[in-house]
Amino acid sequence: MKNIWIIANWKSNKNIAEALEWISLVGPKLPRKDNLPAGRQGLKVVVCPTFSVIEEVKKAIQVGNFPLMVGSQDLSPFDEGAYTGEEAAAILNDLVELSILGHSERRQNFGESDEMVERKTAQAIAANIIPLVCVQGQDIPIPSECNLVAYEPIFAIGTGNPDTPENAESVAKKIKEKVGQEIEILYGGSVNSENCKKFLEQEDISGFLIGKASLDGEEFVKIIDCANSLI
Ligand code: 13P
Repeated sequence: MKNIWIIANWKSNKNIAEALEWISLVGPKLPRKDNLPAGRQGLKVVVCPTFSVIEEVKKAIQVGNFPLMVGSQDLSPFDEGAYTGEEAAAILNDLVELSILGHSERRQNFGESDEMVERKTAQAIAANIIPLVCVQGQDIPIPSECNLVAYEPIFAIGTGNPDTPENAESVAKKIKEKVGQEIEILYGGSVNSENCKKFLEQEDISGFLIGKASLDGEEFVKIIDCANSLI
């Protein structure tokens, strides 16, 4: 049985009040693992807020005891030390279990290179943070220690024009063949509650990285309910 990851990438959205409102809406509606029979516990839900909101989100999840992991949208390629403005993995790991690395918005707007993504991946692993490496196509290099990849074609991001489930499946299969190791592939790009089922039915797609539709708690819960009905 495959895991299904449903990961909210809030990008540069939601202040603390808005984030807490989202948590109080979504948290109680998440399927509770202890209510699920053995063998049906493969649903992993993650929220990735901005750095300044992570701590409050984490506290709210702990208080509510919600089955929700917290991730960051980036981390530093450097160790702790004299790197002004950077968030070192060794500091961040008090707060997050996963980090999105190499998102196309970082590659395009901040000049993030494949080599930098590789360094960030190594930092994440050394700090026990799961690296979720984003690739925009099957030819983008995947760091060797990485077991979780999101295929996010640029034409599909924020456009309302998703890839087809069949093409996403074909890319996922090719990435798996190329990497030749146990790896889980997620799809991202204009995912919503209407189109999510067809992607999840694909053999090699193990969930989603969701931007816009994750900002609306009700919409996000619908996607989770869809995933939960399939595992
Ligand atoms: P949208 O879901 O808004 O298309 O964004 C996808 C994405 O970039 C998630 O990382």
